Amino acid sequence: MISLEGVTYSYMPGINALDHIDLNIGAGELVAIVGENGAGKTTLVKHINGLLKPSEGRVTVCGLDSKAVTVASLARKVGLVFQNPDHQLFAETIEKELSFALVNFGLPPDEIKRRTEWAISEFELSQYAGRSPFMLSGGERKRLALASVLCYGPEVLILDEPTTGQDNRQKVRMASLLHKLNQQGKTVLVVTHDMEFVSDYIPRVVVMSHGRVIADGQSGDVLVRRDILERASLVPPQLAEISWELGLDPPSIRLDDVVARLAKLIGGAKA
Ligand SMILES: Nc1ncnc2c1ncn2[C@@H]1O[C@H](COP(=O)(O)OP(=O)(O)OP(=O)(O)O)[C@@H](O)[C@H]1O
Ligand SMILES: [Mg+2]
Repeated sequence: MISLEGVTYSYMPGINALDHIDLNIGAGELVAIVGENGAGKTTLVKHINGLLKPSEGRVTVCGLDSKAVTVASLARKVGLVFQNPDHQLFAETIEKELSFALVNFGLPPDEIKRRTEWAISEFELSQYAGRSPFMLSGGERKRLALASVLCYGPEVLILDEPTTGQDNRQKVRMASLLHKLNQQGKTVLVVTHDMEFVSDYIPRVVVMSHGRVIADGQSGDVLVRRDILERASLVPPQLAEISWELGLDPPSIRLDDVVARLAKLIGGAKA
């Protein structure tokens, strides 16, 4: 579904923001991309929706070579929600923001109305109807940016730092929405610094550092590797730290697992 082969990209000559990236993501996967500031995460996802084209190597999405298609045709298949919502929002009202792409794609008015109303209710924005997107709080603007992409139903959804500025209730809602979309068969990529969010909700994680992929695997295996977390300047999930402190081998990021093994340790100590 998404394939990067030897992808290298430089904004400035001599400095590679992406350095020979090989990565495959299958249809219907839910994947986190993590790494230190400047690791290349945003640059990578901009290659997947065609905003940037590789200096070397190849990116294919849904069988299309990103260099051979227009940004507009790829963007319809790959919805990218920007790290900073102010780089995405522009319309006078929330409703116009949500319906903009739908009008452009030529959807019938009753379908546009249905989708816009769905988004307003799903993202709890109804009290702000009719207002300018710029009168919303940072967290609300972020939800509106996500809603406006979801409205046009791309096959691949990429969220750049979706949980930044979201309170816990919104994070839990976001996680359940991502799972729902994933169950509907969408491929979902989440760029984040929030390791607890990844360990709780996202099954696969790709770790980037200095423009390279330094680890890729099941979150339960990758997020307990101290060397990798340190290299990419990531905060370990709390349960990984507890596992290390307790000397659990192998360490775990699952609460039920850690509790069961702790109970065993205590039971063993009593006996
Ligand atoms: N428009 C640009 N012009 C020049 N250099 C850039 C540009 N955008 C990013 N870079 C550089 O490319 C590298 C990768 O940046 P990128 O934004 O992809 O990192 P990131 O992993 O998304 O970081 P963050 O966690 O801070 O969002 C950095 O060294 C950055 O300074
Ligand atoms: Mg970024």
